[in-house]
Amino acid sequence: MNGWSSLLPRPVTVEPHPGICRLTAEMPLTVEGSQEVASLARRFLAGLRPGPSTAGGEPGNTTETTRFSVRVGEGMPTGGYALRIAERGVTVEASDVEGVSGALATLRQLLPVQIWRSAGAPPGGWTVPCGRVADAPAYGWRGAMLDVARHFFPKSTVLRYVDLLAAHRYNRLHLHLSDDQGWRVESRIHPRLHEVGAWRPSTRLGPDGVPDGTPHGGYYTLEDLAEISAYARSHGIVLVPEIDLPGHTSALRAAYPELGRPGEEQAVLDTVWAGGSSISPTEPVVSFLRDVLGEILDATGAPYVHLGGDECDMSWWAEDPAIAAEMAAHGYTEPRQMHGHFLRELGRFLAGRGVRMVVWDEAFVTGGVLPDTIVMAWRGHEVAERAARTHDVVRAPLFPTYFNFDQSDLPEERRSEGGPITLADVAAFAPAPPGWPDERRSRVLGGQWQVWSEWVPHQRHLDYLAFPRACALAEVLWRGGIDHLDEFEGRLRTHLARLDALGVEYRPLGGPRPWQTGGTGVWRRSGPGRIEETKKWVESISREP
Ligand code: ACM
Repeated sequence: MNGWSSLLPRPVTVEPHPGICRLTAEMPLTVEGSQEVASLARRFLAGLRPGPSTAGGEPGNTTETTRFSVRVGEGMPTGGYALRIAERGVTVEASDVEGVSGALATLRQLLPVQIWRSAGAPPGGWTVPCGRVADAPAYGWRGAMLDVARHFFPKSTVLRYVDLLAAHRYNRLHLHLSDDQGWRVESRIHPRLHEVGAWRPSTRLGPDGVPDGTPHGGYYTLEDLAEISAYARSHGIVLVPEIDLPGHTSALRAAYPELGRPGEEQAVLDTVWAGGSSISPTEPVVSFLRDVLGEILDATGAPYVHLGGDECDMSWWAEDPAIAAEMAAHGYTEPRQMHGHFLRELGRFLAGRGVRMVVWDEAFVTGGVLPDTIVMAWRGHEVAERAARTHDVVRAPLFPTYFNFDQSDLPEERRSEGGPITLADVAAFAPAPPGWPDERRSRVLGGQWQVWSEWVPHQRHLDYLAFPRACALAEVLWRGGIDHLDEFEGRLRTHLARLDALGVEYRPLGGPRPWQTGGTGVWRRSGPGRIEETKKWVESISREP
C-alpha cells in the first residue's frame, strides 16, 4: 500500500500527482501565522534532521528550490487544511493551529515510516509523493479522556498522548483530575487537596480484591498543568480539565472533611469502585471550589471545564440542616434541585471567566445546566438524544467508547470491567445517528473515547486498551463514520507499523501479545463478556439523576 492509500483518518479529498518532493530540515520555511504555527512547522522540520547513524541515506539535495510554506488565514473550515506537495515544495493552508497540525499529521503519514522514530532522517532527507489534499473534519470535538485519578499517569505519559492524539487528528484532551481514589492537581489555596488527596496507601483490584499494600499517588503541579495545556494547544488540542463534583469526592473529603457530611471522616478510596460519596452543595463549598477552579483556569486558560455531575449520592442532603436551610431559601423541595443549583452556580462562575461548562449527562437530567452547557452523554443513547433537543452534546457512550472494556471475548484478554467492545463496534458508531431529527443531529459536537483507569495501572496497559480502537474512533469522528470496515482495516494494518515505530504497545488485531494477557494471576479474566447486559443497564439508568 502506498502512502496515499494508507492515510488514517482518510482525508476528504486526495489527489495524487506524478513526481516526488524532497524534504529536508534545511528547507527554507515561510510562515504566515502565529508563533504557535511557526513553532509547529519548525518542529516538523526538526524531525527531518539527519540522525547520528545515517548510513545509506541519499546525498545532498537542492534545498534552494524546495520550500516549505505555511499560511494561516481566512477561508478554511475550522480544523481543516489544504496540503499541496509539488516538486518545488510543500504548502500548507489552514485557518487555525489545529488545521496546520492536521496537515502535518497527514504529511508525516506520507513520509517513510521512519519519520515516526526518533533516530532522525538520512542526510538527504526523505521524499514524499506529489499531490494535493483538501480536508476538513466531520465533527469539531474529537476527544480522548484519560482518567488520571484512579491511577495516576505521570506528565510524560500525558504529553506522549498529546503527540499520539495529534497524530490521529484528535483535538480534545479531557483529563479526569479528581475522583474517590485520588485528587490530581495542586492547589496553592487549599493545599491539603494534593497533600492528602493525591495518594492512598494501598489499592484493591475490584471490590473483593486484596489490598496490595503499595502506596499509589501523584498529582500535577499547576505549572505541570499549564505545561500540558500549552503543549496540547501547540498541537491544536484543547485541554479539558475535569473536577468531578459533587459526587466522586472521597479524595476531596479526605482532605477537607468539613465539605462533606458533618462528622463523617473519609479516606481516599483504595478500591476500584465508586464510593457513592458526595460533598455538600451549599454556598461555602461553592466558594471553596471557585478558588480551586480559578487556580486551574489561571494555569491552563482552558476554554472548557468539566464539572462532572455524575453518580452523586444525595441521600443525606435533605436531612442536613445547612443544606435544608439553603434548599428552603431557594424554594427547593428535592435534593436533586440542589444538585442542579450547585452546578449552575459553578457554571456561572466559569461563564464569568469566558469558560463553557461541560457535564456528564446526569447533570442534564437534574437540570444542573445552563443553556450553553455541553452535555457529555455517557449513559444510554436515549439520554443523548434527549439532551440534544436543547443542548450541545458530546457523545461518550459507555458502548462503544469506554475503551477500558475488553476488546474481544478471547479468554486471554486481560481482566477488565466487562465487554467486549470490539474494533468493529467502534467502527460502527454513529455519533449523530441517521434516525435522529436533523436539529438534534446538528447539536452533536462530536465524541470521544475514555479509558477509566481503575483497572489500568500504567502506560503499557493504557496503550493496549486505547489502540487500535482510538484509530477507529479517529476515523469515525473525522469522516462521520466508517462505511467499509475491510477497507479501514487494510489502512489500519499499514498504520500499525507507524504505531510500532512510535513505540505504542497496541493490541494486535489477532489478540493480545503474551505479556498483554491476563495470565493465571490476578489479571486473569474472570468470565465471559456481558456487554449486552451492560448495554441494557446503561440504557435503563438513563433517566436517573
Ligand atoms: C461515568 O462513567 N460515570 C461518567
